[in-house]
Amino acid sequence: MNATPKRVEHQLTDKGYVPVYTTSVVEQPWADYSATDHEVWATLFERQREVLVGRASDEFLSCQQAMGMSPDRIPKFDDLNPVLRKATGWELIGVEGLLPELDFFDHLANRRFPVTWWIRKPEQLDYLSEPDLFHDLFGHVPLLMNPVFADYMQAYGRGGVKAHGIGPEALVNLTRLYWYTVEFGLIRQKDGLRIYGSGIVSSKGESIHCLESDAPNRIGFDLERIMRTRYRIDTFQKTYFVIDSYEQLMEATRPDFTPIYARLAQLDSVPAGDVLDTDSVYNRGSGEGWLDDGDV
Ligand code: PHE
Ligand code: FE
Repeated sequence: MNATPKRVEHQLTDKGYVPVYTTSVVEQPWADYSATDHEVWATLFERQREVLVGRASDEFLSCQQAMGMSPDRIPKFDDLNPVLRKATGWELIGVEGLLPELDFFDHLANRRFPVTWWIRKPEQLDYLSEPDLFHDLFGHVPLLMNPVFADYMQAYGRGGVKAHGIGPEALVNLTRLYWYTVEFGLIRQKDGLRIYGSGIVSSKGESIHCLESDAPNRIGFDLERIMRTRYRIDTFQKTYFVIDSYEQLMEATRPDFTPIYARLAQLDSVPAGDVLDTDSVYNRGSGEGWLDDGDV
């Protein structure tokens, strides 16, 4: 593909300086995708479709089906948008990559989901340190077809705008919630634990690891506990949190977070791998393969 020149700035976050693309919304340059780009999409799509049978949540799989994305070629945002708009009123917008926090929240608050337009290279099938089209489109977009999850994402955007006004500590708490639900969440179905987090569904290795490995903790959803918990950005998670339903997620996050942020500011953060007495534990991780440092 002919990558359009990116205007990069750097923004200081809890991960240090990260690149932020200032070109905000871009038209998806669909005609510029190369044969290799379409092949990367096809390969990842077919591979994950197989891995996710019996692993992804029923809602994720049925939403994905309903969207009509196919492995044949990279979908056009303009083809998906009418389907998505009709289902839940969300729409996709093309972006170069990570956006400044407030812009991201504002898009979500208005039911616009930013999707990175470019796709990874063939040698990056298993790992990429920043979100690309496969992560954003395959991972995040299907559940936007689900009415409850669609509302949750908008509520999160509004909550983000508010937290931004409160201060950096509130934003850290809110970001952990996003991380442990939207990106790395598990859900309990009648037939066992399943995946709904986008960071997992777009990764073959983590799709298997999060459910089948003894190494990580699997712990019941607890809002304030999650908002205190640090996480991993460069390895599999040490802990996954399990919701019972999307309704539970929606209801638990409905209260005003302002007093919660104030309360949490008095408490220490929890290391990514710790298990607390108050946790409802599905699996106490063996800790195999864990690195001691590097929680963010
Ligand atoms: N209820 C939260 C607040 O008052 C907003 C929110 C909703 C945050 C859903 C995350 C998810 O800030
Ligand atoms: Fe993501």
